[in-house]
Amino acid sequence: MTDFEKLHAQKPATTPLEIESGELKWPISFKVTSDGSFFFNTVSKGDNEGASLGGHISGENVKLNCVKVDRLLRGMNLGSKLLTMLEEELKKLGIKTIYATFARPDQIGFFRSNGYVITPLELITKEIQEALAITPECFHSRVKNDRDYDDLLSKREVLGDQSEQILLMKRI
Ligand SMILES: CC(C)(COP(=O)(O)OP(=O)(O)OC[C@H]1O[C@@H](n2cnc3c(N)ncnc32)[C@H](O)[C@@H]1OP(=O)(O)O)[C@@H](O)C(=O)NCCC(=O)NCCS
Repeated sequence: MTDFEKLHAQKPATTPLEIESGELKWPISFKVTSDGSFFFNTVSKGDNEGASLGGHISGENVKLNCVKVDRLLRGMNLGSKLLTMLEEELKKLGIKTIYATFARPDQIGFFRSNGYVITPLELITKEIQEALAITPECFHSRVKNDRDYDDLLSKREVLGDQSEQILLMKRI
């Protein structure tokens, strides 16, 4: 078990998060399960599901494969703040690289605007792919970089189909 897993396996850590509008402070739950999956969530209140990020950790690498902000809270920078906080936590714990695997244009746009760069799958060794449960069959074969993606987006050829995921990467 890595330091990261030991620290968070027992009980969720909570950290105050402020969103800019109003005086609201959102407690965050950070939980890593024994298989390396993790969840970084604001608490939900009634119908409001808050915001969450989820993924998988292995050694110095992390894969993010879930990001969701409640419809009512979108466009307020909450997703970006949550992501920045998660990156800070991961950095403290020795993580060097974060991969993000998404198909929906809103999620890909969100990660790109937060400094993630579209990257060819071939850049990652088979060992890391396996450790992070990255399955090449699920990735878009024609997108290797930001330009390829922008090209398809402008031709409306990006469908957001889960079988055509895009790999993004950020070194932290
Ligand atoms: C993508 C998502 C997480 C963005 O959350 P958010 O809190 O609204 O994002 P932010 O306000 O921090 O936006 C930061 C930047 O991301 C980009 N972005 C956000 N929403 C976007 C969209 N719909 N399309 C393209 N880019 C987008 C923009 O560049 C934005 O900067 P700007 O506001 O200056 O234009 C949110 O729209 C969402 O939850 N979508 C649904 C995802 C889903 O279905 N998840 C379930 C399966 S895991």
